[in-house]
Amino acid sequence: MPAILLAGTPGTGKTRVGLILARLTNYVFTTVTWLVLENRLWSSYDPKTYSFIIDENLFYHYLEEQLPAKRMIIDTHWVEPFARIRSQVEYCIVLRTRPDQLWRRLEARGWPPSKIADNVEAELVGLIAREALESFPDRVYEVDTTNKRPADTAQEILEAIRARKRTTKPIDWLSETPEQELTRILEMLARARGGGHGITPDNTLPRA
Ligand SMILES: Nc1ncnc2c1ncn2[C@@H]1O[C@H](COP(=O)(O)OP(=O)(O)OP(=O)(O)O)[C@@H](O)[C@H]1O
Ligand SMILES: [Mg+2]
Repeated sequence: MPAILLAGTPGTGKTRVGLILARLTNYVFTTVTWLVLENRLWSSYDPKTYSFIIDENLFYHYLEEQLPAKRMIIDTHWVEPFARIRSQVEYCIVLRTRPDQLWRRLEARGWPPSKIADNVEAELVGLIAREALESFPDRVYEVDTTNKRPADTAQEILEAIRARKRTTKPIDWLSETPEQELTRILEMLARARGGGHGITPDNTLPRA
C-alpha cells in the first residue's frame, strides 16, 4: 500500500501534523524512530548521544517486506532509504519553517544553541528538501508551516492529496526570508558558533 512520507528538519512540525493527518485520513501514523525500536532494526546503542544506531540493512529489508501491507504516514528526517521502495511512496511531503521561527520553536524545547544552529542552518539551505527532491523528483510537496497552526498545515496537505497535487515550487529561505530577519538569523548562527560576525578575514591575501 502506498505510504505518505512526512519529512522535514526537526521542529518543522512533522509529529504534530502527522498525528492530525492520520486522524483525517485512514492512515496509521508512525515515525522512523518507532519503526526502528519496535522492530529492533538497530545495531547498537550510543550512550553519548542517547541514540540507537539504525542497522541500514535491516531497515531496508523491513521497508521492502513490511511496508506494502499497511497504509502509513511516516515521520522522518531521513528520506533517502525510501528511494529504494519508490513505488510504495505516494507522496513525499516536506514541512518547511522560516529559519527565525524554527529557531524560536527549537529554543522553546530548551535545546543548546549549537544544536539549534545545526538544524536552523540545515533548514535555511533546504537540506532535507533537496534530499527529498533527489529521491523523488516527481512527488515532493513542500508546505510552509510559518505562521500557521498544525491543524491548518494538516488541512493544507489533505487538500493537496485530494486534488492529487504532488509537486510544488521549492521553497528557498535565502531569497524568501525578509532581509532584516535573514540578517538577524545569520548573526544568531554566527554567535552560536562562537564567532562574531561569522567571517574570518584572510590576512594572507596580497593586497591590491
Ligand atoms: N503550522 C505548524 N505546523 C506544525 N507545527 C507547528 C506549526 N506551528 C507551530 N508548530 C509547532 O512546532 C513544534 C514542533 O512540532 P513537532 O514536535 O511536531 O516537530 P517535529 O518535526 O516532529 O520535530 P522532531 O523531528 O524533532 O521530532 C510544535 O510545538 C508545534 O506546535
Ligand atoms: Mg517529531
